[in-house]
Amino acid sequence: MFRSPVAPRARKRSRPAEAGVPRRQEVKFEDVRVYLVERKMGRSRRSFLTQLATSKGFIVEDVLSDKVTHVVSEASQAASLWKWLKECTPTNPPDMHVLDISWFTDSMKEGRPVAVETRHLIQDTVLTSPEGSTPTPVAAVSQYACQRRTSIENNNKIFTDAFEVLAENYEFNELEGPCLAFRRAASVLKSLPWAVRRMGETQDLPCLGEHTKAVMEDVLECGRSFEVEKLLSDERYQTLKLFTSVFGVGPKTADKWYRRGLRSFSDALADRSVHLNRMQETGFLHYGDISRAVSKAEARSLRTIIDGAACAITPSAVVALTGGFRRGKEFGHDVDFIVTTPELGMEETLLPKIIDGLKKKGILLYCDYQASTFDVANLPNQRFEAMDHFAKCFLILRLEGRGVEGGLHTAEGDVRGWRAVRVDLVSPPMDHYAFALLGWTGSRQFERDLRRFARGKRGMLLDNHALYDKTKKEFLAATTEKDIFAHLGLEYIEPWQRNA
Ligand code: UTP
Ligand code: MN
Repeated sequence: MFRSPVAPRARKRSRPAEAGVPRRQEVKFEDVRVYLVERKMGRSRRSFLTQLATSKGFIVEDVLSDKVTHVVSEASQAASLWKWLKECTPTNPPDMHVLDISWFTDSMKEGRPVAVETRHLIQDTVLTSPEGSTPTPVAAVSQYACQRRTSIENNNKIFTDAFEVLAENYEFNELEGPCLAFRRAASVLKSLPWAVRRMGETQDLPCLGEHTKAVMEDVLECGRSFEVEKLLSDERYQTLKLFTSVFGVGPKTADKWYRRGLRSFSDALADRSVHLNRMQETGFLHYGDISRAVSKAEARSLRTIIDGAACAITPSAVVALTGGFRRGKEFGHDVDFIVTTPELGMEETLLPKIIDGLKKKGILLYCDYQASTFDVANLPNQRFEAMDHFAKCFLILRLEGRGVEGGLHTAEGDVRGWRAVRVDLVSPPMDHYAFALLGWTGSRQFERDLRRFARGKRGMLLDNHALYDKTKKEFLAATTEKDIFAHLGLEYIEPWQRNA
């Protein structure tokens, strides 16, 4: 799924061996493969250093590939070097030393590859000055998640978990500002290919305010945040967290129940003044299953089911997996699909027919269908995070273990052979497909920042339906996600790099 670690730009850049470069001498150090970064170094110096190293028995690679063990560059260009390396490799360059020229010159002097020392390293965002004193920040991290690449690997989980607890509590208290501030901060830390170890390293990161930094300091010093610990043992936080874990129970309902003195599910179910709606009733009925994460293998099995149901209606049906699983997540709280057809207008009736098919198969446990309220005349949408107007349904399906590779992700000792899973289907007309796909792929934070970037930086309005240029007063058409990024003047970010 990930791009090959072979750098496409390096490939383009490599040229045939230059005239005058002697053929490779006897190789003395098989395990070391050096790559010299040409930029700033210049072609002729690079060529000279290559000759020098090969004459001493080093292997110097012309192309940056995963065979390379030592990347050598002029230290002065650390920021752009890391940016470039990160573009070439979606994850951290594996087992690769990123070194400044001093390692190379030391090695030449010694006539062998010298051991890598801290002073040789080119740090990712912090470059130690020649005196080794104050760190100088070098790489700029954008304040917009849509200008960062965020894989599922989170190197700063100790901080982001703490931020998530605080953000959630602000959400319970309807304090949108601080909630967003903590979510933004978490998102910035998630994008870093390195773990923060000292507060000094955060100096030039965007979106980290006083409060977030205070929490980080606690975590760095004590391994935990006092404020977070207090919340985790707070009765109100615990209760709201419990109640909102039920499908159909939002922060408002949870708070209402809390204020009535209810503290547990049995309290809520026994209370005469509590009237559960259909969604909440189902939520309690399937609580164990729905509150359990859905695995990738389960998502794949569901895809086969949805494919089958859609193709039974029309052979031209298009089914696309979106949401967290499209971003490469191993687990999700639900599985999201776009289901549509190239025959414009036909998508209107597609979902009800698919739902009918699922019901006939006996696997439909719950269905909340919302017909399309989409009307081109109502575009562009001025509201920031308005829900989209496409036809959609929120389902709970019965998933049999038979079709799931490696079996169901159920609790040990569960012998039912099936489980309930949440599935969302959305059905945009094909001419709005790219916008719907981009919008439903998420993450929420990525989407938020795409919209914020579009409006703040480009004077454009973006939502799940369309992109509108306010200056030109026109809609910008797109058939692929790449078209949308291009309209916004953004580098394309792959789905698995959108885990902001
Ligand atoms: P989810 O809530 O399913 O999140 O919404 P997720 O990223 O897949 O994470 P898990 O693993 O299920 O917890 C997926 C995307 O769909 C958008 C959300 O904004 C999110 O980016 N979405 C969801 C909509 O645009 N409209 C909706 O009505 C629902
Ligand atoms: Mn999802």
